[in-house]
Amino acid sequence: MNLEDIKTVLIIGAGTMGQQIGFQCAVSGFDVIIYDVADGMLETAKNRMEKLAGTYIASGRLTDETAGAALAKISMTTDARKAGKSADFVSESVPEDPMLKGRVFAQFNEICPAHAIFTTNTSSLVPSMFAQATGRPERFAAFHFHDTRVTRIIDIMPHPGTSPEVVEIIEAFACKIGQIPILLKTENAGYVFNAMIMELCKSAQSLAANDVASIEDIDRAWMGVMHTLVGPFGIMDSIGIDTVWKVTDYWAKIVKNPQQTKNAAFMKAYVDRGDLGEKTGKGFYTYPDPAYAKPGFVASSGDR
Ligand SMILES: NC(=O)c1ccc[n+]([C@@H]2O[C@H](COP(=O)([O-])OP(=O)(O)OC[C@H]3O[C@@H](n4cnc5c(N)ncnc54)[C@H](O)[C@@H]3O)[C@@H](O)[C@H]2O)c1
Repeated sequence: MNLEDIKTVLIIGAGTMGQQIGFQCAVSGFDVIIYDVADGMLETAKNRMEKLAGTYIASGRLTDETAGAALAKISMTTDARKAGKSADFVSESVPEDPMLKGRVFAQFNEICPAHAIFTTNTSSLVPSMFAQATGRPERFAAFHFHDTRVTRIIDIMPHPGTSPEVVEIIEAFACKIGQIPILLKTENAGYVFNAMIMELCKSAQSLAANDVASIEDIDRAWMGVMHTLVGPFGIMDSIGIDTVWKVTDYWAKIVKNPQQTKNAAFMKAYVDRGDLGEKTGKGFYTYPDPAYAKPGFVASSGDR
């Protein structure tokens, strides 16, 4: 099998990531079928992808014609057999649960052609956790997107049983859909960027939970030295404080580290109040105009 043999991409799960990945593949000329178990989700996904196309047109990234052509390449269904029967490449974005992912891949292994390559967009799991359940472990790897609106970086993480030929095809496919592949040489929960960013967030949480400095000053320190537009607390607001808390709490319980337990409690207070970050309009900052994005934020500590 070569890259040229991939014509139809099946996206399993029409949520936040399924929409972005589906649209990105369609923009690059692939026929895309999006499958979800929830009918209502397909309607939402259709609206969100139209909105996404609109923002790409507004920013000059696509023209009316190219955006329209991409949307026309996308079809959606809740019928698994119809969705999978002609798939050459599968990208799975169902919720982060290894049992569910395993069940979904086993279901589509029965439906999809034998040559189809299966990939998972998992954020925190590793592919060997459900490689056997796919029924085609040698044609399976993690293929992890970030937010395609802001970055082209993509992780490719094979498990020990993935065939080198399949890794090569996935790498070529990543380039074909305009992404910049980062190839992991070994399985690592959290890939490369996520592994680094979670350490940064952990340090920022400890500084705030121990009342070493204010949330704003912690972000100022990072932004002022690294010359970035956002600091760790702004980043956690954009990921979603609930999501970050879940990861923090999970690891705090596994490693039984008192500082991580304290960090989880610090984050939980925000979750309990419903202050989940950008998506709820309030987190460590208030939105849509967070203080850190205002001109002069880094220098403004001198004003207090
Ligand atoms: N949100 C992010 O920023 C992000 C980034 C990278 C990777 N991921 C990963 O991508 C995956 C999906 O995340 P998301 O944020 O898009 O989730 P989401 O909750 O927005 O979407 C999940 C979708 O899967 C559907 N679904 C549930 N069970 C299904 C089944 N059996 N078959 C088909 N569809 C089913 C749901 O109806 C929903 O539409 C997760 O593994 C997550 O860790 C998320």
